[in-house]
Amino acid sequence: MRVEQCNNLSDFRRLARRRLPAPVFHYLDGGADDEISLRRNVAAFDDYELLPSQLTDVSRINMQTTLFGKSIDWPVMISPTGASKLFHGAGEAAVARAAAKFGMVYSLSTLGTASIEEIAAAGDGPKLYQLYIFKDRGLTEEWITRCKASGYAALALTVDLPVPGNRERDLVQGFMFPPRSRLKQILSFARHPGWLYRAAIRKDLDTVNITSSERAAGALATGLRKFIDDELERSLTWRDVEWLAQRWNGPLVIKGVQTVADCRKAADSGATAVMISNHGGRQLDSAPAPVDCIAAIADALRDRLEIICDGGIRRGNHVVKALALGANACSIGRGYLYALAADGQNGVELALGLLRAELERTMALVGCVSIQDINAQFVQHRLPR
Ligand code: GLV
Repeated sequence: MRVEQCNNLSDFRRLARRRLPAPVFHYLDGGADDEISLRRNVAAFDDYELLPSQLTDVSRINMQTTLFGKSIDWPVMISPTGASKLFHGAGEAAVARAAAKFGMVYSLSTLGTASIEEIAAAGDGPKLYQLYIFKDRGLTEEWITRCKASGYAALALTVDLPVPGNRERDLVQGFMFPPRSRLKQILSFARHPGWLYRAAIRKDLDTVNITSSERAAGALATGLRKFIDDELERSLTWRDVEWLAQRWNGPLVIKGVQTVADCRKAADSGATAVMISNHGGRQLDSAPAPVDCIAAIADALRDRLEIICDGGIRRGNHVVKALALGANACSIGRGYLYALAADGQNGVELALGLLRAELERTMALVGCVSIQDINAQFVQHRLPR
């Protein structure tokens, strides 16, 4: 199968599986514990049905909307994900360029393998920087200053990772730093010499925004997982969100919440948006699927927060369902990483093109000509038999 033969986002997963050493593919593909949330994130969309309003004039469809005070061409954004160069040498910058072409927000992760400045320069689309707060608060201050200087549109604080989730596929596959590979995994890496070259010779996998700090670089020498384990600030509370909101003084997103109560605290603490997310099923297993949380949060807080559904989006109809339930936008993580692994920027552009075409087609089929038209009348929870 070639990338051009992919008909939907899930097709890229099959290519990614072939293009990556097995431990790397499973790091991308896997979730925590029994992967219940991982599976539910996608499957929960099947529990909703779309109710078309027929014989609406859909000769012109406008998918434009706004997010973080910026105009965007369609209501999907790129979610922050760690270390894109694990999946393709072109890494974060390739995705940022594709996102800019598609009029979307690109998010750079603290655990990214490209710098804040490099991403600011990659395409003229709006950028978001995702933060973890480490014990070294100086690092956070430094990132905020750099994001301001580079014109980032928004900051996101991830709140669902006080400790790393239990990713058992990584244990089985020996995917850790330093690697703990068995013969099978070593052979799998050996079949991907390009990957090994990038990792070992080009030293592509540096989490450069962290290693720019001397203290963090020292701590990081013990391995990324241990660094996160030791250095992540577990004592973080909503007071820290207040501090961040004041310090940043711009669109602030809280990523990794599921309940109305937490979203209310986010708004009270100065956040302007939430990403309803269970970290792609990689943290607390059995956390609900984001799509199932939207309606209650939107009913309570749509006037105070922008609401982003982060998790399980594989189809344009998923986006329409999320928006009909009350989300302002959706974000994709694995949805673009599989495509990045399959064929770099070209793969990501093909995947985004498919998703955007699906969204436009679904809007026509349900009878919505603008994003503002999409509302609760178009969606119902599937009736029990
Ligand atoms: C990092 O955030 C990960 O989920 O691996």
